[in-house]
Amino acid sequence: MAMAARPFRYLLAHNGGLALALIMMSWWIGGAKAEIREMEVQSDARSIIPFDEFGFTRWGGLELNVTGIAFSSSSSSEAADDLDLSQLGFFLSTRDAWLHVLQQLQDLDITCALQSDLVHVVYSFDRLSPPPNPSGVPVARATSFRFAVNLTDSPGQFTLVFANCLPTLRVSMDVRSAMFNRPDPSDPSSRAYLSAGSAALPLLYSLLFFAYAALAVVWAAALIRRRRSAFAIHYFMLAVIILKALNLLCEAEDKSYIERTGSAHGWDVLFYIFSFLKGISLFTLIVLIGTGWSFLKPYLQDREKKVLMAVIPLQVVANIAQVAIDESGPYARDWVTWRQLFLLVDVVCCCAILFPIVWSIKNLREAARTDGKAAVNLMKLTLFRQYYVVVICYIYFTRVVVYALITITSYQYLWTSVFAGELATLAFYVFTGYKFRPEAHNPYFAIDDEEEEAAAEALKLDDEFEL
Ligand SMILES: *[C@@H]1O[C@H](CO)[C@@H](O)[C@H](O)[C@H]1NC(C)=O
Repeated sequence: MAMAARPFRYLLAHNGGLALALIMMSWWIGGAKAEIREMEVQSDARSIIPFDEFGFTRWGGLELNVTGIAFSSSSSSEAADDLDLSQLGFFLSTRDAWLHVLQQLQDLDITCALQSDLVHVVYSFDRLSPPPNPSGVPVARATSFRFAVNLTDSPGQFTLVFANCLPTLRVSMDVRSAMFNRPDPSDPSSRAYLSAGSAALPLLYSLLFFAYAALAVVWAAALIRRRRSAFAIHYFMLAVIILKALNLLCEAEDKSYIERTGSAHGWDVLFYIFSFLKGISLFTLIVLIGTGWSFLKPYLQDREKKVLMAVIPLQVVANIAQVAIDESGPYARDWVTWRQLFLLVDVVCCCAILFPIVWSIKNLREAARTDGKAAVNLMKLTLFRQYYVVVICYIYFTRVVVYALITITSYQYLWTSVFAGELATLAFYVFTGYKFRPEAHNPYFAIDDEEEEAAAEALKLDDEFEL
C-alpha cells in the first residue's frame, strides 16, 4: 500500500500543475476538417443552430443546398401559411461579431440576429415564398433551395449559422454546405476547401514526412553498424519512427485531397490506421523505456505489465474518439462528448506512462545504495531523471502549450500551432533516440576508482535531498 502510494505522491508533487492544466483544458477549438458538410435538422426549435466554421481569405465562397424544408408549429394560432419567414435564415458571423450581436439582442436594439448589421445574411427564408400570383391559384411554398455566393474582401473566421426567431416554430431540413477559398480569383472554378489557417498543412506534413524518413534511415544505419549492442527495444524504436513517418504521409495526402475536393476518401482510412498504430506504439515505447526493459532488465514486472494493459485499450478508445471528432464538425450532436472522452483518456494515459519511470528511478536509487556500483547507477539514474523531465515537457507542450497557442493565434496562422506541436514531437523523438541509442562500447566498464568515489558522494548528497 505504502509502496503504491509513494510514486503517486511523487507524481502529485511534481506534476500537480500538469494534471490540473490538462484537466482544466476542457475548452479546445478543434482542428476539424473543413470540407463539404451534411447536417440533418429534425423538428428543431433552437433559435440558433451553428453549422460549420471556416477561415476565408480575401476570395472565398459559400454554397448551400437545402432540401426537405418543413415547419411545424406548437401553437395553433400560427397558421402554417402566414408565417413571417423573414425571421428565419442563414447567416455568417465571426465570433467577435457574435458577442456584439448577443449584446444587441440583450439591449433589445434588435429582436432577431438576422436584423443585425454585424452579420452577413446569406439566405433569408422569405425567398421561399411564392411570388404574388394574380390568378388566385394558390402556389405552394418551395421546400428546397440552392444558393451560392462569392465572398470577396471579407477575410476572417466565419461560422455558418441558422437563425429561427419564431419561438414556437420547429424546423426540419437537410443542409449541405460547402465553404471554400479561391486560390486563383480570376478562375471561378478554382476552389480550395481547406480553411485559410490550414492551407499550409499538406506542405507542412510532407516536409515532416521527409524529416522522419531521414531519421528512420539514420536509425537503421546505426542499428546495422552496432548490431551487437542493439537491443530488441532499438528495433521497436525503428518501427515507431516508420509508423510516424507513414502517418504523416497519409495526413499530407488526406489534407491535400480535402483541399482539392472537399471530401475525404480512401486515404483517410489509412491515415486512421497509421495514427492508431503510431499512438499505441509510441505510448508502449515510452512505457517500455520507462521500465528500463532491455536496458536494465530483460523482463517486465507485474505492475509494469498492468500499466501497459491499461494504456493500450485506452489508446484504442482515444483513437475511436479522435475519428468521431474528425469526422463531425465542432457543432455536431455528440462532438463535445467525444471531445471530453478523448481528453479524459489522454490525461489518464499521459499520467499512467509516468509511473514506470518513477518506479525505475526509485529502483535505481535503491540499487545504488546497496550494490556498491555507485558510478554506473548514478549514470543510469541521471538518464532516467532526464527522461522523466523530457516526457513531462513533451506532454505539457503538445497538450497544453499547443492549445494555448491555438487560442491566441489569429485564424490564418492556425498551422503554426500544428507546426510547434510537431516540432516538439520531433525533438522528443530525437532526444529519446539519442539518449537510448545502441552504444558502440559500454561506457560503464571504463570507470576508475576516483569516479566511483565521486559518484558515491553525489548519491549521498542526493539522498539528503530526497524527493
Ligand atoms: C449543390 O447542388 C448542386 C447541383 O446539384 C451540386 O453541383 C453541388 O455540388 C451541391 N453543393 C453541395 C455543397 O452539396
